[in-house]
Amino acid sequence: MRMGTPLCTALSRSGRSAAAGLACRAGLLSTMPCASMLVPSRAATTKQWLRRQISDPFVRQAVIDNYRSRAAFKLDYLAAKHRLFREGMVVLDLGACPGGWSQVAARCVAASEGEGIVVSVDLQPIDPIPGVHFIQADVMSSETLDAIEIMIANTLRNRQAEVSGRGSMHRISDIQAMKAQIGSPAKSARVVDVVLSDMAPAFSGNRTVDVTRTTELCEMALTVANRLLKKKGSLVCKFLQGESFNELRALLEAHFETVMHVKPPASRKESTEMFLVCLKFKGPTAAGHIEATEK
Ligand SMILES: C[S@@+](CC[C@H](N)C(=O)[O-])C[C@H]1O[C@@H](n2cnc3c(N)ncnc32)[C@H](O)[C@@H]1O
Repeated sequence: MRMGTPLCTALSRSGRSAAAGLACRAGLLSTMPCASMLVPSRAATTKQWLRRQISDPFVRQAVIDNYRSRAAFKLDYLAAKHRLFREGMVVLDLGACPGGWSQVAARCVAASEGEGIVVSVDLQPIDPIPGVHFIQADVMSSETLDAIEIMIANTLRNRQAEVSGRGSMHRISDIQAMKAQIGSPAKSARVVDVVLSDMAPAFSGNRTVDVTRTTELCEMALTVANRLLKKKGSLVCKFLQGESFNELRALLEAHFETVMHVKPPASRKESTEMFLVCLKFKGPTAAGHIEATEK
C-alpha cells in the first residue's frame, strides 16, 4: 500500500494514531499482509502493532526492496532452500494480496520478460504487478478453478506477444470472454510447475476454528494442484500448527514424494504458522480432489 491509499488515509484522517500517519509516510504500512485482516480495531492494539512494524527488520527490508509485504521473505527463503523456481516456469499464487509472494515468483521465473507465467488469485483486489495476471475471486469456488485454467491457457497462448512487463487484472466475468477464444480449458491442464498458497482466513481468535479453516484452505490448494500441477511439480502451503497437522501431512504425502514442514526466519516466532513444502507431485488422484463449492 502506498502513501495516500485508503488504509493510510483512513488511519491518518481518523486521528486514531499520529504514528500511523508517520508509518504510512515511511512506507511501513505497505508491508502488511492484508489490510482488512490486520487493521487493529482499538487504539492500544494499533500502537502495539505499529511498534512491532517499525522495529521489525523484515518490514524495513521489504520497504527497501520494494516488496509489498514482509511475507515476501518467507517465500524468498523457501524458494532458495528448496530450489522451487526456474526461469520460464508457470506459477499459481493462491491468496496473493497484497502481492509479496507474486513479486518474488514473478522475479524468479522472469515473468515480466515473457519467460515464465504467474497467475495470482485473491478475494481482495491488488495493485497490478509487472508480469502477474491477477484474478479477484474465491479459490473455494469451482468457477474460480475454471477461470484459472482459462487464464493460464490464454496467457500461454499469448506469451510470446506479451513481453510488455505489464500485469493484468481480472474478475471471473472478464475471463468468460477468453474461453471462447481458447476453446476447452482442458487444453491448459497440467502446465503449472508450482502452486503456492499463503491463503489465510479472517482469523476468529478461536484457535480450533482458525486451525480448521486454514487446513481447509490447504486442502483446497491440494485440490487445485491435483487438477493443474505437472508431474514432479511443487506445492507450498501455509498451515497453522494444530490437531489436524498429521492428517494434512499424510494427505499431502499421498500426492508428493517429499513433504517437509518449514518455519522460515521471517515467520514470527509467536505465530503458529508454518509452511508445508511438497516436492515431486506423483500425479493426480481422485483422493486429492476436494469438491469446490458451486456458485
Ligand atoms: C497472508 S495474506 C497473503 C499474503 C501474500 N502471500 C503476500 O505475500 O503479500 C492471505 C490472503 O489469503 C486470502 N484468502 C483467504 N481465503 C481466500 C479464498 N478463499 N480465496 C482467495 N483468497 C483467499 C486473503 O484475502 C488474504 O489476502
